[in-house]
Amino acid sequence: MGVGRTTADDARAAEARRASARSARPTLAVVGATGAVGTVLLEILSQRADVWGEIRLVASARSAGRKLTVRGEETEVVALGEEALEGVDVAMFDVPDDISARWAPIAAAKGAVVVDNSAAFRMDPDVPLVVPEVNAHAARVRPRGIVANPNCTTLSMIVAVGALHAEFGLSELVVASYQAVSGAGKAGVDALRAQLTAVAGTELGTQPGDVRRAVGDAMGPFPAPVALNVVPWAGSLMADGWSSEELKVRAEARKILGLPDLRVSATCVRVPVITTHSLSVHARFENEVTVERAHEILANAPGVVLCDSPADGEFPTPADAVGTDPTWVGRVRRSLDDPRALDLFVCGDNLRKGAALNTAQIAESVAAELTAP
Ligand SMILES: NC(=O)c1ccc[n+]([C@@H]2O[C@H](COP(=O)([O-])OP(=O)(O)OC[C@H]3O[C@@H](n4cnc5c(N)ncnc54)[C@H](OP(=O)(O)O)[C@@H]3O)[C@@H](O)[C@H]2O)c1
Repeated sequence: MGVGRTTADDARAAEARRASARSARPTLAVVGATGAVGTVLLEILSQRADVWGEIRLVASARSAGRKLTVRGEETEVVALGEEALEGVDVAMFDVPDDISARWAPIAAAKGAVVVDNSAAFRMDPDVPLVVPEVNAHAARVRPRGIVANPNCTTLSMIVAVGALHAEFGLSELVVASYQAVSGAGKAGVDALRAQLTAVAGTELGTQPGDVRRAVGDAMGPFPAPVALNVVPWAGSLMADGWSSEELKVRAEARKILGLPDLRVSATCVRVPVITTHSLSVHARFENEVTVERAHEILANAPGVVLCDSPADGEFPTPADAVGTDPTWVGRVRRSLDDPRALDLFVCGDNLRKGAALNTAQIAESVAAELTAP
């Protein structure tokens, strides 16, 4: 400290230096900052290299005036509206589909590059659907000024599947998901916690309907109790009995991998896990596979951690993977009946890589583009 200077002077000088450095950097809006994904996004923005100037926090009018912390600074939430989007260079949208459908094009028209986490634009041919480890190049071509972030179930497996595809050539995917309740937002988490309280310390789970009666009205966004249960349903009903979530896995895997004819069957199941989706994946390839080569590929793939030693009890579980960034892969086996097929088990935090982290990675690549000399 210089002679005569106080700690307060130093703090003010440091703040002024930070403000001046930030003024040259892109302005970021986080739309949906108060939600399940938004909350994790604020954590991630506080942990990663800081490439942003102003970070503006936006949510519904219900949350206007609330204070949230990002990069260690308290920031007031503003209500979504034209004014909240003025002067924004990159806007992350983590809001329901209808809100994104309405406001993302407005943000883009005002000059922002939008990275959208909803399903509103994922299948639009003029909107790239991006997973940086798999198809980073796609984010540079965005005719509508919007880049879409895939659905959390697809994202939780696609980094590992994409790495195997690059070597073996994927021809078919048959997957079953074990999806965490936070995939249904804060309402899903609140419902599971309330249901767990209702069944804790009881002998429930031995008679038909006993869990359902104990849970009563606390079903939340799920069609059946999720505590002490598994629910073979996620999303809304689509044609021929498929759920919207199952069709998203199919359509989005095809688009991200650039394989429009890929054969995909998914069964999406909700399980009593707070956060981290798991998938059992049966992947068939053009070429014969070996577990040894698959292990090598997965061990070297960016964003993937191989955890595959069942003899030592080592395989990924949601309770161990939650809060981490990578896609965890274990239980890698070659099909006993098909030398071109692998079976594997994958876990990925649906709020981090499954949503907020992927959004942050895409947004950072756009920021680098905007600030490139
Ligand atoms: N959860 C996941 O694993 C996951 C993964 C990938 C993608 N996504 C997608 O990400 C989006 C957000 O999901 P979430 O799970 O974070 O949902 P959530 O917990 O329900 O949060 C929704 C967010 O949207 C805001 N919002 C709602 N109505 C609004 C309005 N009229 N104007 C402005 N803001 C509004 C909410 O603000 P208030 O708090 O003010 O209401 C809140 O910040 C959804 O499209 C979802 O499908 C979720």
